[in-house]
Amino acid sequence: MVTTNRTAAATTRVAVAGATGYAGQELLRVLARHPGVRLTLATSSSAESAARPLPALAKIWTGSLSPLDVDALGRDADIVFLALPDSASADLAPTLLAAGARVIDISGAFRLRDDAARKTWYPHSGPLPAGTVYGLTEWSRADLRTARMVANPGCYPTTSLLALLPLVRAGLLLPGADIIIDAKSGVSGAGKAPKEHTHFSEVHGSLSAYGVFSHRHGVEIAQGVGGDVTFTPHLVPLNRGILATIYVRVAPATPASAVAAAYEQAYAEAPFVRLTGGALPEIKHVANTNFCDIGWKVDPSGRVILVAVLDNLVKGAAGQAVQNMNVMIGLDEQVGLL
Ligand SMILES: NC(=O)c1ccc[n+]([C@@H]2O[C@H](COP(=O)([O-])OP(=O)(O)OC[C@H]3O[C@@H](n4cnc5c(N)ncnc54)[C@H](OP(=O)(O)O)[C@@H]3O)[C@@H](O)[C@H]2O)c1
Repeated sequence: MVTTNRTAAATTRVAVAGATGYAGQELLRVLARHPGVRLTLATSSSAESAARPLPALAKIWTGSLSPLDVDALGRDADIVFLALPDSASADLAPTLLAAGARVIDISGAFRLRDDAARKTWYPHSGPLPAGTVYGLTEWSRADLRTARMVANPGCYPTTSLLALLPLVRAGLLLPGADIIIDAKSGVSGAGKAPKEHTHFSEVHGSLSAYGVFSHRHGVEIAQGVGGDVTFTPHLVPLNRGILATIYVRVAPATPASAVAAAYEQAYAEAPFVRLTGGALPEIKHVANTNFCDIGWKVDPSGRVILVAVLDNLVKGAAGQAVQNMNVMIGLDEQVGLL
């Protein structure tokens, strides 16, 4: 049993399932030092799992891993973070909700609202649980406060939607014009299990496109903007980080100041979105942080190029999940993350 308690007053009990994974360890790192919650349980992948150390968390987290036990997760936590493969989250989430826990699912299992689309892209997922909120924090705060279940957005969708939504919601995008997202991700986006196309000698010194017209994050981004997008992800020889270059059109002669105003208005109260304007952002400035940096260039013909960056394991996964938790329990959304 884990008992890492930063303040005696912290009454919200939290647990992490999938604590040995990339996103799960990032969650432990943040939650173990979070002053507003008590980390009560961290589980590995099965009921038979042997105990194992997590050297990166030595002297940060003093607890130990427990075997996966859904009853214990439901009993020992008010909020359970699922940092599991989609199929495992699809399986566990309904049981945890029935036990009275609130759930923050980092997998894709419950991100797509359309039943048919969810069945196609996440065949293990059942019906959307009541009270499910798509947790793109900056655009979901009001709903998050009462959410029973949060579908934490994917890493590419978080990057793309944070960049696109200010223009979409301000009605600035030219109707019918293509939205083209050219996105690059570091290899940790694929999780820790070794695969042929992600191991060092395959990735180092190379750059490749994948998932063309067939990546489920494209469907998730289209859901967020309410229309089609052309999305091409690329694997780059980095450990962490995503950079999305997004091509859109506004009406010819739209002033750059109108584009800037849309961003400034959308993110005036957003502590983790940094607007860089014409100074285009870089991955190295957001690695290991919960920031998403967004820049843009506008030309007189109405072409707009957006560039957005974030750390896929923090703002694209564990950090945004904790940001969502903070909103759910009425804390300042920055707590534990700055
Ligand atoms: N990596 C990213 O950048 C990122 C970003 C956003 C969202 N996500 C999503 O977050 C989830 C976790 O991703 P990750 O990158 O952290 O993956 P990961 O590094 O592969 O870790 C997966 C975790 O799930 C456990 N696990 C594996 N199979 C399981 C099963 N059948 N039942 C229960 N537990 C199981 C693993 O335990 P063992 O250690 O025992 O194998 C490990 O703790 C995925 O759904 C992923 O799509 C990832």
